[in-house]
Amino acid sequence: MAEQTPCVSAKGISKSFSGVFVLRDVDFDIREGEVHALVGENGAGKSTLVKIISGVYTPTEGQLYLEGEPANFKSPHAARESGIALIHQEPLTFQDLNVAENLFLGHTRGKGKPVINWKEIYKKSNEVLEELNVRMRAKDPVRDMTVADQQMVEIACALSQNAKVIIFDEPTAALSYGEVQTLFETIRRLKAQGKAMVFIGHRLEEILEISDTVTVLRDGRKVGEALTKDVTQDQLVQMMVGRSYQELVVKEKVPIGDVRLEIKDLTLPGVFHDVSLNVRKGEIVGMAGLVGAGRSEVASAVFGVAPAKKGQIFIDGKEVSIKNPRQAMQLGVAMVSEDRARTGLVLPFAIDFNMSFAVLAKICSKLGFVNTKKESEMVNTYVDELNVKMRDKEQAVQELSGGNQQKVVIAKWLMTEGDILILDEPTRGIDVGAKAEVYRLINELARRGKAILMISSELPEILQLADRVYVMCEGRVTGELNREEMDSERIMTAASTVKKEKEASVA
Ligand SMILES: Nc1ncnc2c1ncn2[C@@H]1O[C@H](COP(=O)(O)OP(=O)(O)OP(=O)(O)O)[C@@H](O)[C@H]1O
Ligand SMILES: [Mg+2]
Repeated sequence: MAEQTPCVSAKGISKSFSGVFVLRDVDFDIREGEVHALVGENGAGKSTLVKIISGVYTPTEGQLYLEGEPANFKSPHAARESGIALIHQEPLTFQDLNVAENLFLGHTRGKGKPVINWKEIYKKSNEVLEELNVRMRAKDPVRDMTVADQQMVEIACALSQNAKVIIFDEPTAALSYGEVQTLFETIRRLKAQGKAMVFIGHRLEEILEISDTVTVLRDGRKVGEALTKDVTQDQLVQMMVGRSYQELVVKEKVPIGDVRLEIKDLTLPGVFHDVSLNVRKGEIVGMAGLVGAGRSEVASAVFGVAPAKKGQIFIDGKEVSIKNPRQAMQLGVAMVSEDRARTGLVLPFAIDFNMSFAVLAKICSKLGFVNTKKESEMVNTYVDELNVKMRDKEQAVQELSGGNQQKVVIAKWLMTEGDILILDEPTRGIDVGAKAEVYRLINELARRGKAILMISSELPEILQLADRVYVMCEGRVTGELNREEMDSERIMTAASTVKKEKEASVA
């Protein structure tokens, strides 16, 4: 086959921040009708590379070419005008606007058309939505949409601006299995239309399923590029981390004790109903279900972020009232939240501060001074264990790569040493190596006798680690399975039970 000129070609790209190189001499091509995957450990430089391609950063060295011609984007806007769209991991939609307004914001006033023609905009929007084959309509409000739907709005937005190149930076991190499949159908359709795409992700099965070519970055350098059909998952891991893939998750058998956390008939009207569950000492209890099933909301209620209206919470058999996270923490409950940017971290602050501020009490002397020696010892331990990639501990968290931010959140809560741990999507966005480390830590915490409630949308994670699993669907617990009964089919069935019953009763 003759080599076609790539839509985008990045040649010899290097990038440094305050003198530290995070990308070195990287070549990367994006071709028409092709999905080019980009993989690598947290902090390898994936997001930085696509930010350079989409005009967010300018390269320190190297040159971008568009259809063979040199291109220098001064802004993301300039890259968009040239047909390059970056779909961020956290959707950047405008919550107060509807779909059409989101689609046409910023380019409503085309050349020679000073007036906004709403009729035209709604018509065009619906055309794009139809092309994407999605359920939403132009006038639907974006607020309250799932992350998956907001992502579709962003894709529709890119299409309505005639993007030729669409870059997805960890698009599936917040999606459930079904939503990932819907996204993949969309990507395949776009591919058939000749769009060029980049796909960044940490789930290697997904990379193998969706991509045509895969490039591996390690410590800012390109260590390999291959046709996806020619590589195995093992080989990819080998290239990413420089060592071979072992069975990542090994469930440890630990003695299981008395019930530590029990909730009975917990209800927050419209959100979750009559949720009852318990977690015992040394036990890892999974919470499975589709995104939006109400699992995080139940966790938030137990942690006092958004308390329930009805029902009871018992800790060690005693009924407790938890009105805010402070009370939860006093009762020994700790939570690793799902949304690190909004509830987990103080982004502009230093790494060590973020890690230790949940435990200030523990490291403060009686007079209220922070025991800095103790603090730095604890921070060092976790930075090492989780292999947080950073310049130094004084670096602001917002400068870390996404996965390394997640590691800081986990470290923060491991340091609180609560007896009851709620983990909401603990491995979202972190690389294979760190995942193994987190699993090891979760096992270790169970061995130390903690009671662990783990929300996860990754079934393999639940199947491998959990002693028991509760499945939720539309705000209700629709199944409970112990380790012997657990398999993906049973969990998926329970995760869509309510819907089926509803459909049956309508019929
Ligand atoms: N604005 C910035 N200032 C300083 N350093 C930065 C900045 N942005 C990124 N970095 C550093 O560049 C390196 C690469 O980060 P990048 O976000 O590209 O990684 P990544 O491969 O996308 O990782 P992840 O899988 O965790 O998202 C990291 O060490 C990060 O700390
Ligand atoms: Mg990234």
